[in-house]
Amino acid sequence: MNLNVPAMSTTTVRTDPAASGPTPASDPEWWRNAAIYQIYPRSFADANGDGTGDIAGVRARLPYLRDLGVDAVWFTPWYPSPMADGGYDVADYREVDDLFGDLTEAEGLIADARALGIRTILDVVPNHVSDQHQWFQDSLAAGPGSPERERFWFRDGGGADGTEPPNGWKSEFGGPAWSRVASPDGTPEQWYLHLFAPGQPDLNWDHPDVRREHEDVLRFWFERGVAGIRIDSAALLAKDAGLPELLDDHDPGDHPYVDRDELQGIYRGWRQIAESYGPDRVLIGEIWLADAERFARYLRPGVLHSAFNFDFMTCAWSAPALRGSIERTLQAHERVGAPATWVLSNHDVTRPVTRYGRADSAFSFDAKRFGIPTDLGAGTRRARAAALLAMALPGAYYLFQGEELGLPEVEDIPLERIDDPMHARSGGLDPGRDGCRVPLPWSGDRPPYGFGQGLETWLPQPDDWAGLTVDAQIGDAKSMLELYRTALGLRRSHADFASGDLRWLNLGQDVIAFHRGPGLTSVTNLTGGRLDLPPHEHVWLASAPLEGGRLPADATAWLRPQS
Ligand code: NOJ
Repeated sequence: MNLNVPAMSTTTVRTDPAASGPTPASDPEWWRNAAIYQIYPRSFADANGDGTGDIAGVRARLPYLRDLGVDAVWFTPWYPSPMADGGYDVADYREVDDLFGDLTEAEGLIADARALGIRTILDVVPNHVSDQHQWFQDSLAAGPGSPERERFWFRDGGGADGTEPPNGWKSEFGGPAWSRVASPDGTPEQWYLHLFAPGQPDLNWDHPDVRREHEDVLRFWFERGVAGIRIDSAALLAKDAGLPELLDDHDPGDHPYVDRDELQGIYRGWRQIAESYGPDRVLIGEIWLADAERFARYLRPGVLHSAFNFDFMTCAWSAPALRGSIERTLQAHERVGAPATWVLSNHDVTRPVTRYGRADSAFSFDAKRFGIPTDLGAGTRRARAAALLAMALPGAYYLFQGEELGLPEVEDIPLERIDDPMHARSGGLDPGRDGCRVPLPWSGDRPPYGFGQGLETWLPQPDDWAGLTVDAQIGDAKSMLELYRTALGLRRSHADFASGDLRWLNLGQDVIAFHRGPGLTSVTNLTGGRLDLPPHEHVWLASAPLEGGRLPADATAWLRPQS
């Protein structure tokens, strides 16, 4: 691994006392421009020494998150789960897995975080449950034709003897989207649908029990003080009950299981539930849709509050591509009055410092392979520039744990330690998503880097992360962590980040430049050479030191324009 990252320093930060923004802690519309930190609990901090992160570990590190300057944390699932898909196979939506703690600790965490001004967002997984969930177990026991099976998509097999899956749908993780069950005497019988792993049977959202149950689950967690719900696979819940074969192309709303119009009604119901707990409770959709207009339909008044912007997250490091994505995003959101979101990473995609250092820096699940060369020096410079670019845009910013440390994707996890089903189900071609899920390095110069006391972490950490620990970076003005801390602090304290209109500034096709309100100009240089900055009073912050007053390649500067 090449961690030869050139020294960079951030420019002196000035504060502008006249320009303080609203307090995120008291604003009911906090989610419109919040900074939200994604916690993958397995890999954040391990308090009990078993090699897996836990709620007690998070509670102990809350001051770190407060000092980082985030407004909310979003937890990937912490519910009881056989972990067939990292917890996205939920066996009980009202409990906490023993690995992570218990419900009382979860409640304590939500309260502790709130006391520090940090809201909590939970992940709810409505498209599927674990095959260990009581409903699925009941459906197996009750047998074909039973009401218990109606909550899922059970069908007889195709072919003369039922040995073929009911249709040709494919799992998102590779292979068929159907598995066959057997009766207690071992005789093969019906098949069930799973758009993800076989351990994640899809629910039938035409069934009233399914709707009622999820509405109750929302209430359960809102009553425990959570500020929001991230809705997993939010565009996949509704299915065409005829289960027709896929066509090469489908008109919007006409796909048998993606983005069906019925979803709008489901989420309108959820919105009413959220609002009954107060205007500050929020629903955030995980919605992968290429069509910006269809995407924005989920964000109309009365539907969801917000959704992840994957169009921007998957863009290559290219000014026309990024600018095009920003324009599309802002236009689509403006029409429905919803805030945009800006995301560079999450627990499913390649870490930015690795991705931006590749020749093809766009992200695609289909293109994931072992051994794609990367230049981590270039990738880190670009990730720094991308972070300032994204944080300067109007809307909310989501960061995934470890992004603020500039962690690279771990690409040499021993094959026998890879846990993600994407790896096995691709026949071993896809490295899977574990490379971005490796336990965080907090301190020290060797694994487990202060992650916990255990000798072996659930995924192995690289030997060369000593320079990337929190302790190593805190106080080092050139570090990724200090860049994030400074940028998030400025973003929070300066009103133009929250409310300033965006006005484009044309500095050439390879420069992304815009004004936000009267007090901020953001300039990102993708020309490959140094760039003269537009007239300014001073530099708020830069992702790399200016060179003779000019902005180096692959860097972003935040300027105070001349008045
Ligand atoms: C999206 C989640 O982000 C991902 O990690 C998971 O595998 C799928 N949904 C299925 O739940």
